[in-house]
Amino acid sequence: MTDRQYPIPSDFASVSNLKPSDYRTLYERSVTDREGFFRDQGARVHWMTAPSHVGDWSFESPVKIEWYKDGVLNVTESCLDRHLETRGDKVAILFEGDEPGNSRKLTYRELHGEVCRFANVLKARGATKGDRITLYMPMIPEAAVAMLACARIGAVHSVVFGGFSPEALAGRIVDCDSHILITADEGVRGGRTVPLKVNADAACQIAAKAGVSVDTQLVVRRTGGDVSWDADRDVWLHEAVASVSGDCSPEPMSAEDPLFILYTSGSTGQPKGVLHTCGGYLVWAAMTHDYVFDLKEDDVYWCSADVGWVTGHTYIVYGPLANGATTVMFEGIPTYPDASRFWQVCDDHQVTLFYTAPTAIRALMREGDGPVQKTSRSSLRLLGTVGEPINPEAWEWYFHTVGEGRCPIIDTWWQTETGGAMIVPLPGTTPMKPGAGTFPMFGVEPALVDADGNTLSGATEGNLILKTSWPGQMRTVYGDHERFEQTYFSTYPGSYFTGDGARRDEDGMYWITGRVDDVINVSGHRMGTAEVESALGSHPSVAESAVVGYPHNIKGQGIYAYVTTTAGTEETDALKAELVKHVRTEIGPIASPDLIQFSSGLPKTRSGKIMRRILRKIAANDYGNLGDTSTLADPSVVDALIDGRMSG
Ligand code: WTA
Repeated sequence: MTDRQYPIPSDFASVSNLKPSDYRTLYERSVTDREGFFRDQGARVHWMTAPSHVGDWSFESPVKIEWYKDGVLNVTESCLDRHLETRGDKVAILFEGDEPGNSRKLTYRELHGEVCRFANVLKARGATKGDRITLYMPMIPEAAVAMLACARIGAVHSVVFGGFSPEALAGRIVDCDSHILITADEGVRGGRTVPLKVNADAACQIAAKAGVSVDTQLVVRRTGGDVSWDADRDVWLHEAVASVSGDCSPEPMSAEDPLFILYTSGSTGQPKGVLHTCGGYLVWAAMTHDYVFDLKEDDVYWCSADVGWVTGHTYIVYGPLANGATTVMFEGIPTYPDASRFWQVCDDHQVTLFYTAPTAIRALMREGDGPVQKTSRSSLRLLGTVGEPINPEAWEWYFHTVGEGRCPIIDTWWQTETGGAMIVPLPGTTPMKPGAGTFPMFGVEPALVDADGNTLSGATEGNLILKTSWPGQMRTVYGDHERFEQTYFSTYPGSYFTGDGARRDEDGMYWITGRVDDVINVSGHRMGTAEVESALGSHPSVAESAVVGYPHNIKGQGIYAYVTTTAGTEETDALKAELVKHVRTEIGPIASPDLIQFSSGLPKTRSGKIMRRILRKIAANDYGNLGDTSTLADPSVVDALIDGRMSG
């Protein structure tokens, strides 16, 4: 790890909203007078009834987390209505399609109208407050409109990433008992179509077998491609909106009513439905979006994530719209039609704030400086990253080649569970070190602990916990509060365990080192090894499997699967290909194993527990320090695995 340090670029420092001393003052107040600090922050959103409570929470069992609990609001009033008077004609969503030149602007007034009409369509199909509505959408403005329409009527949206398979989509529909599904005929990415309606239809069938019937499928026409149609269930959005009013009054919601569920992978079992509520989440989204991006009124802000992930929720939709910003929505991919696309879009729309993932930076870096240098990028003033640790090489390239040394690199560490950014070099407040998350966001109190939960002080490395609650914290796992407590609060009782490891250096800066549990991070996407194992295990030729992450140049981590086949199975390359295909069908392309190794045995302890530490080392081609293997039931499997790895 390089510990090179860069000062705040001087042009940026002279106009930044926050100065170094502001960070110290605000942080100090946020932890010594939390009530006062977060009462003030609460004013960032529009309340129908202002809250008298601020934070009411306990990390001791029974875990309870409430913020602003007697406040009443509807998040869409903060994101839309309140802007109409002063920002009605300001662009709210700037859509850039997959094909260059295909762009569309929606002002706050237009977005407000579309959301109200969409909300009325949902009402006409019987949706009411508290209903769960699933979205399976491409990156088009209608995705944001649909999310806000749900919020308008008090329904709880569950957005499922458009790259997930019908099986995975169905699992999520069933888990939250959702009877309305919003999708599109097809998506378009990198010049190819994605068969969303076909997948959605298949998911409805699978869900029906599990006892959950989708009564309404609301379909956005994106490509006009042929789709099959169930007249009882399917409704074209463009037809339905024609017959509804453009007025829809916002449903009054308690601050602690649910806003959305977002499924995410954990170290065990099936994905869990992370639940966020209206009040605290919106305050956190608005506050962090403002501070993290040094937001100014005329910024053009672009977060290149997908709305299917939490980054899209907080930093494409809720944060920017609550702050009255112009938010870019990009349908395509960084390399289509070529590797200069990101920077071309920045030039075309004069983007000032840009936020992307390290995996995209690494993929573009591989293409060399040429595609970057043929663009101007002169509008850019801040560059952000999220989703995985950024390696210093990628950081340096982003800083020097893309930003030409003018733009601070804002590396934001956070999680689906945290709702918004938690450890971040707030722009204008701190020098930067390539790869360091630096310091905690206001109100965030991180600590490093050892395996026994002892708090470590000074420059050290350990497991990252958070000692106190913040408004954007998830409230529960949908339908399973016990799993919530078990997952996050049982490892280090009284604290929230992040699942990440971190180092703290001599300057007190935090460096996130990655997951310390059985979650792997593939191109910034979270994947549970147990999920991939369960997908592999459902193939008839697989007797047993163990999945681990291994270092991958572009993806950060790749998926490595050790597979023991059933007796008599021929272990061929064709079978490997079939297993990859099988996982894609069960979960989706993002879960595809990058490497499969057939192995007649797995390293197990005498009690039958697989020693993943050994498997991780072998997958990483790191055979020198395998640690103690004497507790293995059969130590000879290790040599066989190494032989297999070396010849594979
Ligand atoms: C990892 C994405 C290092 C981390 C917002 C975390 C990061 C997981 C960073 C959450 C970062 C995210 N530096 N690691 N800047 N950002 N991570 O829920 O392991 O999709 O626990 O949320 O991504 O992934 P999730």
